[in-house]
Amino acid sequence: MIDHLLSIEELNADVLTSLLDSADLLKASRGRHEKPLAGQSWAMIFTKSSTRTRVSFEIGIRELGGNPMFLSKNDIQLGRGEPIRDTARVLGRMAHGCVIRTYAQRDVVDFAALSGIPTINALTDDEHPCQILADLMTVREKLGGWHGRRIAFVGDGFSNMTRSWMWAAKYLGFELVIASPASCRPPPVFLLELDAPNVTITEDPVEAIEGADVINTDVWLSMGQENQAEKEAEFGGFEVNDRLLAGAADGHIVLHCLPAYRGKEISERVLEAHADTIFQQAENRLHAQKAVLVALRPAGATDS
Ligand code: CP
Ligand code: NVA
Repeated sequence: MIDHLLSIEELNADVLTSLLDSADLLKASRGRHEKPLAGQSWAMIFTKSSTRTRVSFEIGIRELGGNPMFLSKNDIQLGRGEPIRDTARVLGRMAHGCVIRTYAQRDVVDFAALSGIPTINALTDDEHPCQILADLMTVREKLGGWHGRRIAFVGDGFSNMTRSWMWAAKYLGFELVIASPASCRPPPVFLLELDAPNVTITEDPVEAIEGADVINTDVWLSMGQENQAEKEAEFGGFEVNDRLLAGAADGHIVLHCLPAYRGKEISERVLEAHADTIFQQAENRLHAQKAVLVALRPAGATDS
C-alpha cells in the first residue's frame, strides 16, 4: 500500500508494476469488483480545467463505492485566498481522501502532510503521475511491454508530462528519447538528480522518432503558459505528422494525453489514424486511477 500518490519520482519499479497489474484487473472486472471505498467521501480540488481527470476520478470513486465531491477553486475559499494549508487541515477532518489538480507541487505535498488523508496529484506543473500510469498501461496493452522498446517524446522537454515520463523510464529501464527545443530542455541539475543513462535528450525530432516504437506528445504550452507566444515559437518542426513518423519502427503507436491542438503538436491525420490508441489511453485513466485509489492506505490505518 502507499500513503499518497504525489509524483512518479517518489515511486519505484515494484509499486509501478503492482499499480499497473491492479489496473489491468480492475479493467477486466469492471462492474464486478469489490467496493473498498464504501462509506468514504473524497474531495476533488481543481484549480485548473479538466475533462478526463475530473470525470475519471468521479466515476472511479463511485465505482469503488465512494462519494466524490468536486471542489472548483472558484467555489471554495481557496479561490479567495484561503491558504492550501488551512484547506488541508479542514478537509483532513472531514474527507477520507483528496484528489488535487493545481500549479505548485509544493501545495500538493503540503496538503498531504497537513491533512493526514490520502492525497493524489491530479496534475501539477511538475508532474502528472496519473496520466503516466495510464500511458504505461496502454503501452503494455498495445505492445506487450517496454522491454527493448524505444519510446520517444516530442515536445516540451521539461513539462509535467516529460518529467513524469523521465522518472518512469528511470525506474522501469526503457529507452526514452526526448526531442525538445533547447529552451525547454531539462536543466542539468534535474538530469543529474535523475541519473538515468537510458534517458536522452535531443533537439532533433527526426532523430528521436527514428526507430521508435512509441511516439508520445503533448501540448507545447501547458495550462498556465497559454500567453507564452515566444515559447510556442520555438516548436517549429516539432509537429508529430506523417513526415516525422516515416522513420518510426514498424507497428509503432502514438500517444497523446489530450487535450490536443491539431496542427500544432500533432497533425489531424496522425491523431485520427491513431485515435484507437489515444482514446484507449484516455479510458485507461479510469482504470489506472482506480488502482491508485485501491492501493492507498486509509488514514489512520497501518500495515498488518
Ligand atoms: N489528460 C488530462 O489530464 O486531461 P484533462 O486535462 O482533461 O483532465
Ligand atoms: N502538459 C499539459 C497536460 C494536460 C493534461 C498541461 O499541463 O496543460
